Amino acid sequence: MKYIGKNFFIEGVKVKNLAKKFQTPIYCYSYRRLKENIRSFKKNFKSLNPIICFAVKANANLKLLKEIKKFNLGADVVSIGELTKALKAGIQSKKIVFSGVGKTSEELNFAISKKILLINVESKSEILEIEKIAKRKKKTVNIGIRLNPNTDPKTLSQISTGKKQDKFGVTENIFLELVKYVKNCKFIKLKCISVHIGSQILNHQPYEKMLKVVDRVIKKTNYKFEFIDLGGGMGISYGKKVKNLNYKRYVAAIKKVLKRHKAKIIFEPGRSIIGNTGILVSKVLYIKESAKKNFIILDAAMNDLMRPALYGAEHLIIPESKNNILTKKTYEFVGPICESTDRFLTTKKFQKLNEKDLIIISDVGAYGMSLSSNYNVRLKPAEILIKGFKINLIKKRQKLKDLM
Ligand code: LLP
Repeated sequence: MKYIGKNFFIEGVKVKNLAKKFQTPIYCYSYRRLKENIRSFKKNFKSLNPIICFAVKANANLKLLKEIKKFNLGADVVSIGELTKALKAGIQSKKIVFSGVGKTSEELNFAISKKILLINVESKSEILEIEKIAKRKKKTVNIGIRLNPNTDPKTLSQISTGKKQDKFGVTENIFLELVKYVKNCKFIKLKCISVHIGSQILNHQPYEKMLKVVDRVIKKTNYKFEFIDLGGGMGISYGKKVKNLNYKRYVAAIKKVLKRHKAKIIFEPGRSIIGNTGILVSKVLYIKESAKKNFIILDAAMNDLMRPALYGAEHLIIPESKNNILTKKTYEFVGPICESTDRFLTTKKFQKLNEKDLIIISDVGAYGMSLSSNYNVRLKPAEILIKGFKINLIKKRQKLKDLM
């Protein structure tokens, strides 16, 4: 993805032409970026030879899941819907892990009948529910138990999951109790200790701390876990110059644990695989001038991309076509929705924009479309995958009749 001359291209395709053909707003993904991300993820962790389960919540587009499957990735799912999609994409049951604090008995039944790799449980009650179903089905169910390591991931508080005040996982003491309990269960086999401390993590130190707790807890259980599932969370740069996660240090810390407790590592990356593959293309509807700033009213809104409204997340915005005329006004990029949080970015540095211009919101491949909604009865955008010069419509824009 880059400018060629004045215009922005995804691989061999001019974004302007996509907007003409499919209207706006549209999500566009680069296949090449996806391939590169998967390659570099595999390379970073090569020495561990891990099972890599793509976190479907980051992007659940079926066509993208099919592409991801071709690289032999498994899936991390959190609902019967995600599980069904992962299976439909052709991902083998043996490569699917099921996470989440509130799996219904319908979901557990379905997961058990599909013989997935692991159900990562998050409470004693969930274990009892699984035991009941397994007994009835006379099946042995493989589970992991998610530990809450009480580690601060040093990321946005809204996407932190590994501190004791968070609803995720169980405390060290409860973990030890549950291991004892499951050891004596006839229909449940404990295979895994799992953790996931949060998302958009750019510092290896929280991971090191988390691993120290994992190490200590495994030792205390005196149990031989077949798998250690370390979740996802690896951060990306979002257009700003930030220090990337130090994968070498992370791997070194993992190896330390593996020396004492041999096991197969599982990762559940979402953002690091798909985040920077996608852009959201939007059109300037109106420019509304006010004393201090100009509101750039886009045809994309918080229902299309929720991250700024939900977390104050900043996604770089760039023009589709460069004119090199800088404005002195502050621009505030907003959507048409009747909420003051329907705003994407405020910036002082931007080229002069005119109504009908196209802009590009960057790095929206993860938790972009998957968090979109029909708020204000707005239609969900189309999704397009670019492979070289090839344009694939991988999801049609919703039609009003779909919502009636
Ligand atoms: N595994 C578990 C158990 C998770 O809860 C998550 C994300 C992942 C893996 C994948 O994490 P990743 O590698 O993508 O960081 N909507 C938020 C992010 C929420 C993440 C929820 N869990 C956002 O837009 O930033």
